[in-house]
Amino acid sequence: MPAPKTPLRICVGFSEGTWLGRAPGRVNLIGEHVDYLGGVVLPAAVNRHTEVTGHPAAEWSISSRVKGGLAYIRAMGEELGVEPQSVSVRSNIPSGSGLSSSAALLVAIAAGLKPDMDGAEAALACQRAEQRATGVQVGVMDQFASALGRKGHALLLDCGTLKYRAVPFPGELLIAIIDSGEHRSLAHTPYNERRREAEAGQPNRRRHVVSEIARVHGFVDALDNRDFDRLGRLLKESHVSLRDDFEVSTPHVDALVDKAWAAPGCYGARIMGAGFGGSILALIRRGAEKALAAAVERPIIVCSTADGAFVSPRAGGGAA
Ligand code: GLA
Repeated sequence: MPAPKTPLRICVGFSEGTWLGRAPGRVNLIGEHVDYLGGVVLPAAVNRHTEVTGHPAAEWSISSRVKGGLAYIRAMGEELGVEPQSVSVRSNIPSGSGLSSSAALLVAIAAGLKPDMDGAEAALACQRAEQRATGVQVGVMDQFASALGRKGHALLLDCGTLKYRAVPFPGELLIAIIDSGEHRSLAHTPYNERRREAEAGQPNRRRHVVSEIARVHGFVDALDNRDFDRLGRLLKESHVSLRDDFEVSTPHVDALVDKAWAAPGCYGARIMGAGFGGSILALIRRGAEKALAAAVERPIIVCSTADGAFVSPRAGGGAA
């Protein structure tokens, strides 16, 4: 879908009860497949957004082509306890790009219908709505980042306590996302099965979870010390663990990650999000964009960090 060009707030002719919500997509720097186990994660909201407008109606309807859109908006409405709405959606988050367009859609609806809601409560409501709409037992990371991410920062989130803190993200580092082209809907992947295996303490799954949580802490330490080579090493270790211990990568994605690792100016790369195809994330030096695109032989999306939908520009850091 094309990028929203005109801020909708200057539109005229909104009828009584019309609302607008806007929320960003997210990347996850590190901390994969640990959110639903109460682990720590380090996502960031990014500068790609979904905007939803709506107004009360006799029944739920959606006038835009969004995959699974009606199920999402209905589930979100049930979570928020609101009457049916007719909604339309605009987004510059490519669906299936790994930037969590579904979390952005849900958070945008929550922000539009309940702007005064607490951001963490909104994220939890969005998580429940996503679980209900898809049957996938997702964690809260994506929705939390979309709601409470901070521009210039990553968000260190403890998914067990929901305590979080904004961690400064260095301006010299660029976040690049590369779509592997292997698309899948999570409902058709072993996501729930992996979750069950990890909860049951299956040794390889457990080893990934324990080592990944240690890597999140190491990553924050390396960010604090501006040790970019260490960031890269941790991304590579995360990929190997997701590939071998959690088994959520694919040969095609592994090959893409290998190519990214070899690109000049790339500190490291790994599979991002749920996996089973999807996208990879690479951290690169500013100016290394073309070299990365040439190395992976695919288009890259370069993102910068952004504020979440429930963050006011004047807000301070999150709860410590
Ligand atoms: C998906 C889910 C998240 C998280 C990641 C894996 O993005 O929505 O809750 O579990 O996969 O880290």
